Amino acid sequence: MNSLFSVYPQFPISFVQAKGTRLFDIEGGEYQDFYSGIGCVNLGHGHEKITNALISQAQKIGHISNIFLHQHAISASQKLASYAPFSAKVFFCNSGAEANEGALKLARKYSKTKKGENAVEIIAFEKSFHGRTMATLSCTGKTKMREMFAPMLPTVYFAEYNNISSVRSLVSSNTSAIILETIQGEGGLSTADFSFLQEVRLLCDEHDILLIFDEVQTGTGRTGTFFSCESTGVIPDIITCAKGIGNGFPVGAFLAKAGIAEYFGIGDHGTTFGGNPLAMSVVSAVCDEITPEFLQIVREKSVIFDTILGDIQKSFPEKVLELRGRGFMRGLLLEEGLAPVVQKKLLFEEHLITLLSGENQVLRLLPPLISTPEEIQEAGEKIKKVLEKC
Ligand SMILES: Cc1ncc(COP(=O)(O)O)c(C=O)c1O
Repeated sequence: MNSLFSVYPQFPISFVQAKGTRLFDIEGGEYQDFYSGIGCVNLGHGHEKITNALISQAQKIGHISNIFLHQHAISASQKLASYAPFSAKVFFCNSGAEANEGALKLARKYSKTKKGENAVEIIAFEKSFHGRTMATLSCTGKTKMREMFAPMLPTVYFAEYNNISSVRSLVSSNTSAIILETIQGEGGLSTADFSFLQEVRLLCDEHDILLIFDEVQTGTGRTGTFFSCESTGVIPDIITCAKGIGNGFPVGAFLAKAGIAEYFGIGDHGTTFGGNPLAMSVVSAVCDEITPEFLQIVREKSVIFDTILGDIQKSFPEKVLELRGRGFMRGLLLEEGLAPVVQKKLLFEEHLITLLSGENQVLRLLPPLISTPEEIQEAGEKIKKVLEKC
């Protein structure tokens, strides 16, 4: 019994400490992290420079509010903006849902100003996930999640992922924005074809529609570049991020092209905690760590990861139906009903922490980016061992 809402299916393991890629439970049991706290702790647990930045900031000043312009937010915004593929303005908030919520608001103001009062339509995608607030849930392509909370925003339409005709059929003179993930993290690790993204970009240009990339999960180096859009070659108008930019500290952000950010004026958006010096110290430290050299190593290790997963699939062709995702954001589509069993066995018997995705059919693997080739191999062996038994 506890005093918390019962909204999460939870495992009865109590973690009390963590370092690098390892977590330790209350009895001292050691677990290998292959989920990064749902794609957050990209640089590993207890990272010395990030921890020190946070402690040192807490000792100086923890909270100011946005009533005052402060150097902590200016500095973190410059560092984060330097990774954007466009000249960006940054708004800091506290989570992924809030980042998307802000991006949707900005798109609405932009389109209403340019196209008229009714230009509030959004195109989102089937199986997408953008958060649990009312607007982001409205854009989430999972009927089950939405139905108990209807009515949703009335002007969101869902297209089929990787199907440009489906997107085109939903475009109207009132379309404000298209929002998508380059890899559907919660939706089963489906990856957007680069050619599809290019066509979406052209469609947006043709109709003055804003293209929003939700990089909450794909961002902060997870696919081998700071933002995944870099490797797709397609430049969105707005990027949203969270998770990894705080390495576990709660922070989110959206970055917009400077000419679009201008549509938000004084009082149009705000938050009490967003841009808080504690969060900003962490974002700055994370950005300092994710250097081009670091990303190059992530890309090299991704090739090794890919080989290991390919070997797993070859060994169990009837159980592993498909390999999905890119970089350090991978999924194994398993035979019907198998993924939850494998996940539990990996956790309790092999002490390897993984996730599920895509209606629980996909075993989702989000290792910290600092995982060594040996650790990826170690996880691969554990997965093989469990697949052998199931
Ligand atoms: C792609 C994507 N967008 C948005 C969110 C929501 O982020 P948060 O849980 O921080 O609100 C998530 C969370 O998993 C996500 O994966």
